[in-house]
Amino acid sequence: MNILIFGATSAIAGAVAQRYASAGNRFALVARNEAGLAALCRRLTEAGADSAEPVLADLAVLGDSSKPATHDELIEQAISHLPGIDLVLVCHGALPDQEACETDFKAALEALDSNGLSTIALLTALAPRMMAQGHGTIAVITSVAGDRGRRSNYVYGCAKAMVSAYLQGLRGKLHSAGVHLIDIRPGLVDSPMTAHLKKGPLFAAPDRVAAGIVHAVARKRHTAYAPAWWRPILWAVKLIPDSIFKRLKF
Ligand SMILES: NC(=O)c1ccc[n+]([C@@H]2O[C@H](COP(=O)([O-])OP(=O)(O)OC[C@H]3O[C@@H](n4cnc5c(N)ncnc54)[C@H](OP(=O)(O)O)[C@@H]3O)[C@@H](O)[C@H]2O)c1
Repeated sequence: MNILIFGATSAIAGAVAQRYASAGNRFALVARNEAGLAALCRRLTEAGADSAEPVLADLAVLGDSSKPATHDELIEQAISHLPGIDLVLVCHGALPDQEACETDFKAALEALDSNGLSTIALLTALAPRMMAQGHGTIAVITSVAGDRGRRSNYVYGCAKAMVSAYLQGLRGKLHSAGVHLIDIRPGLVDSPMTAHLKKGPLFAAPDRVAAGIVHAVARKRHTAYAPAWWRPILWAVKLIPDSIFKRLKF
């Protein structure tokens, strides 16, 4: 299997990669943390992967320049390490400071970039290549936060919701070309992203989420909650009328 991962140094991506690290599997791994990326490549080859090639890149599209970056060259560079693409995992993201985003639009824009626009830029460059190839799976990590905007993190949530809506439409185009697309929606995960948050029973380990992702890929799911018990929770959350929801402080 040929596997391309964006945001490869994330705790969730690393756990997914580890589960696929066996003979016959090759990786192209894109991340911006050089040391972390080198360590991951070593870990995967030691675990039995045929190869693991690092590609260093910051995936943000809105830099200082007013012209957004596209990811065509990056995709070309990454896929040059693989004889084809069987699985793509898009896993980068960042939890913004919600309060800062409410008063500073630059902070909000940065959050929309790292959690939304950069993913859409990747998919824009990837989709035609996957369609031309005519097979493979793309799994994109969004979040349960995109299911309903909550007052404590609606900027992050709206970026993830933007990606989920994008995926719903893109799925149809890819399907007609033989490519499968999965929207993976984790709940709370005990990873560096949430290191500053107090942990409770709803938190899952990255490897538990990784197991859900591997399962969703094998079963060709469309939208997978990880762990799966987030699906009924979000179903209930979405049923709460706005007149009550607006009074909830979470
Ligand atoms: N943790 C949760 O509770 C939770 C819940 C739902 C969804 N998710 C989603 O799951 C995915 C993985 O998160 P995680 O929990 O595994 O957290 P994590 O370990 O903190 O991973 C986030 C990764 O995204 C990378 N990243 C952020 N912005 C980037 C950029 N502009 N260019 C390149 N890489 C960038 C980070 O790179 P650096 O290490 O270089 O900063 C890091 O490797 C994210 O999409 C996140 O939104 C997480």
